[in-house]
Amino acid sequence: MNLNRREFTKGLGLILGATAIPIRSSANTQPDFTLRAGQSANSIYKKEKSEVLTNLWTFNQKTPGPTLQFNVGDRAKVSLDNKLPQETSIHWHGVRVKNSMDGVVGLTQPGVKKGEQFLYDFEIPDAGTYWYHSHNKAWEQVARGLYGPLIVNGPEDPKVDHDLVLMIDDWQLDGVGQIREQTFGSLHDWAHAGRIGNWVTVNGVSSPSYRLKDNSRVRLRLINAANARVFDLNFTSVKPRTIALDGYPVDPFESPNLTIGPSQRVDVILDLSDKLPEFALQIITRTRPITIARFLLDESLGLGGGALNEELITPIRPQPPDASSTSLKIPVHMQGGAMGNLKSAKINGIMTPLRDLARKHRKVWAFNGSVGGYDHMLGTARRGQFVILDIQNDTRWPHAMHLHGHHFWVNSRLNPVKDPLSKRDTYLMQPGENAEFRFVADNPGLWLFHCHMLEHHAAGMGAVIEVT
Ligand code: C2O
Ligand code: CU
Repeated sequence: MNLNRREFTKGLGLILGATAIPIRSSANTQPDFTLRAGQSANSIYKKEKSEVLTNLWTFNQKTPGPTLQFNVGDRAKVSLDNKLPQETSIHWHGVRVKNSMDGVVGLTQPGVKKGEQFLYDFEIPDAGTYWYHSHNKAWEQVARGLYGPLIVNGPEDPKVDHDLVLMIDDWQLDGVGQIREQTFGSLHDWAHAGRIGNWVTVNGVSSPSYRLKDNSRVRLRLINAANARVFDLNFTSVKPRTIALDGYPVDPFESPNLTIGPSQRVDVILDLSDKLPEFALQIITRTRPITIARFLLDESLGLGGGALNEELITPIRPQPPDASSTSLKIPVHMQGGAMGNLKSAKINGIMTPLRDLARKHRKVWAFNGSVGGYDHMLGTARRGQFVILDIQNDTRWPHAMHLHGHHFWVNSRLNPVKDPLSKRDTYLMQPGENAEFRFVADNPGLWLFHCHMLEHHAAGMGAVIEVT
């Protein structure tokens, strides 16, 4: 970890949680909300008590962008207004939208140019914790701050006293608190762990503090917005119970250590009944833990409303379907990266040695011997067909594998969740791991499957699955 502990200054004061914007759905084609992508200067960095403004790319001048709140079943109409010098788009990570609204520039839509707008209009089928982010040059645009939370409330949500989003990011900043631009596109990063930052924020603030009611039940929605860092987290003094992974409910289980890969979400419940004055969320490192958020019990807020006494119940979930003779099995052999075994791979139909792939094309990863572009088709499923992605991580690196448009059940020996088949939209695969992603291909279109270590995707780790 190259996080410098000295740089983790005290919180910027007490924050009562991100402002949430409830969205009304209406029948016309007017947007209910506009996300304006533009440049802004935000206070994410502090040095020796003096505040610095960091030049970022943000939605509505905020990092994270506004929290979009929906109810399950809502129709979302969100307009993107691009004021950036680059083309951009919005991908609704984990939301099973129709293909034309998926926001993948070059696959599902053209880039939204500077000065142009695009209306995203889609139904929201599932409750849970999601997020939105740029999907054009995401390795640069997400690193500059183009993302925000998307929360879908459902009738089966547990009753809580506090419902807080904690969106965690690590930024790569220079000595004066500006985005280190010269490392964008670093082939070294692209072939190793990706762009790892040196400055961590929670909801855009370094080490924020949150006030909570005593005797309360708290839901925390942790979202990893980092380009490449896997966060290993724990809490001091409290025992979190995990209730959802990537938005999808699981049977609640106690989870002292939380591992959250890039783009993954973990929802936890904290029951605060032990009269602790305060506790912290920290990153576990090899040496000592680093506090990234503090929580203070504040008597002036009154006592919690009794949610504590209610049992946590898992909403009824569909069971994973069984593989059948009509299942489609798609093998995915992942290779490449530093210290890997990829000697050569196909690019634009031409078998090319790794050296030339790297030097001429800036590509270092491959699936099934082909470097990923949006023309790299992994397979075609009929609508309704049961699909098994049979994935072999034959590299020396972990990868946060994300499938667009569908949620899948993971079947792997290493899957740490007690339920051997857990439903996710992104699964952190360990080096050497073999995992099956199982899903019913019920959403027609061209769907991206890629590593959410955004530099890995940029360097070839992606391909397309078609559902007809
Ligand atoms: Cu978070 Cu291709 O997406
Ligand atoms: Cu990867």
